[in-house]
Amino acid sequence: MSQLQGEIISADAPLSNLGNYEEAYNNFKWEDVEKEFSWYQTGLINMAYEAIDRHVDLGKGGKIALRYSDASRDEAYTFQQMKDLSNQFTNVLRKHGISKGDRVFVFMPRSPELYVSMFGAIKAGAVVGPLFEAFMETAVKDRLEDSGAVAIVTTPALLGRVKIDELPLLKKIFLVGKDLEPIEGIIDYHAVMEQSSPEAEIEWVNREDGLILHYTSGSTGKPKGVYHVHNAMIQHYYTGKVVLDLKEDDVYWCTADPGWVTGTSYGMFAPWLLGVTNVIRGGRFSPSDWYNTIQSNKITVWYSAPTAFRMLMGAGQDVVEEYDLSSLRHVLSVGEPLNPEVVRWGLKVYGQRIHDTWWMTETGGQLICNYPSMPLKPGSMGKPVPGIQAAIIDDNGKVLPPHRMGNLAIRTPWPSMMRLIWNNAPKYEEYFRIPGWYISGDTAYMDEDGYFWFQGRIDDVINSSGERIGPFEVESKLLEHPAVAEAGVIGKPDPMRGEIIKAFISLMDGYAPSEELKAEIAKFVKEGLSAHAAPREIEFKDKLPKTRSGKIMRRVLKAWELNLPVGDLSTIED
Ligand code: PRX
Repeated sequence: MSQLQGEIISADAPLSNLGNYEEAYNNFKWEDVEKEFSWYQTGLINMAYEAIDRHVDLGKGGKIALRYSDASRDEAYTFQQMKDLSNQFTNVLRKHGISKGDRVFVFMPRSPELYVSMFGAIKAGAVVGPLFEAFMETAVKDRLEDSGAVAIVTTPALLGRVKIDELPLLKKIFLVGKDLEPIEGIIDYHAVMEQSSPEAEIEWVNREDGLILHYTSGSTGKPKGVYHVHNAMIQHYYTGKVVLDLKEDDVYWCTADPGWVTGTSYGMFAPWLLGVTNVIRGGRFSPSDWYNTIQSNKITVWYSAPTAFRMLMGAGQDVVEEYDLSSLRHVLSVGEPLNPEVVRWGLKVYGQRIHDTWWMTETGGQLICNYPSMPLKPGSMGKPVPGIQAAIIDDNGKVLPPHRMGNLAIRTPWPSMMRLIWNNAPKYEEYFRIPGWYISGDTAYMDEDGYFWFQGRIDDVINSSGERIGPFEVESKLLEHPAVAEAGVIGKPDPMRGEIIKAFISLMDGYAPSEELKAEIAKFVKEGLSAHAAPREIEFKDKLPKTRSGKIMRRVLKAWELNLPVGDLSTIED
């Protein structure tokens, strides 16, 4: 059992998979990890084979791969069943002309069919694009259009948000639902699955062939398609082993939706590459439901996010005491800064250290982490994963000494690094503008013991409840509302969500500010883009601060909001 000593919590599991951190870091070679894959011998590469079929070939076909539950379903699937079902979907896709490199999107709530479709598509050599179920029309259309998606798997409830008529390349729509009435041009998923054989040839690919496309937000422009390749499995596997610390008998639960990168890299790939039983809970967050999920599944390893931990903390210790959480042995967090207060609370109430991990959609896998075998400093993201060289550098690429704040940068390359921003080479190159380094866009410092401490973002990207929101996308939607003349969007600090979205708006002539109008504008964004992109606060202004070229100065808005000095205004319009 670990103990709190000053601001260091001692290691709780020296016998974890990583072992001694320094030793592991100093002796590390990626090639040693590669040797653990079947393709190292066979030369036949496909992520889906390594994650699913391989376990069947190793005699573990009867082991539970997926335990899925939500309010109306409670089901378990073995590796053998996942293999057969994904094969069936591979055959369905092939029959409908989908082949290697095609972009196949999945747009639906968590369900066994979601995972089957994704693996089926990967086995066919397609690049999968997962879309979060809360996306509305514009968000869905932007992503399908940019990627040139040819197929989508969705549900009757979400179909209306897919503007089929406006997407000429989108040829195949698979609908997952019970007792569907036939609809012209729409393929009934269950009907075609029933007729499909569970035997399929896997499309063997190259390590550098496309696997997944995750759209994520930057500070300018529409969301970017971050493109990852099969080679990423090396990082997923290794970090699953040493960061998630997964072992044969673990029951693992990652609370993230596969619409976000955590829900794929660590909600499907890492646990299944390690052949571990993966629990997926559908439905919305509620403290009692979450604790019950841990209790009834006897979860041993749990990966979640700061906002969720803060909400659980807000729900109090009494709720915790109604459940038996004694199965837990390893708890992790990602997505936003993890407050030291939450770490201390976790230790007190769960008897567990919450291990912060840092990474991004673009990095494909965890890079800076806390490990069971390493002392933990509450508030620190930890130390680089073996094989990863992280540093704090200035804008010229000079490595800064401990305690100096600067750009958090990673030496290129590493196995799960993004390989492209879809259709946007200049954006991609911006990340690598300093030769030899990937520039994360985060600022941080490193302390004298080599622990990294997150400080903030360099750009205007908003992080609300761990979800990354581009102000530009929200501003663009706001401008479509007839009352809005100008809009500027910032992240406003919030104790529960990290940040909330705040919009400053100037109105068109003829519109008067009112609470009703605020509510109407927020609803407009919610229904057009997505709930998590809708401003929680709106403030009307006669005019917004702009540069002479007409760009809204978000930093001035932020300074207004925080009562800070506005800084250099030499480029302001008037
Ligand atoms: O600002 C950092 C923050 O989330 C950003 C990446 O967001 P996204 O691509 O959506 O990926 C989230 C999950 C991998 C980062 O640039 N972030 C992520 N992890 C942490 C974090 N901020 C502080 N501490 C973390 N552990």
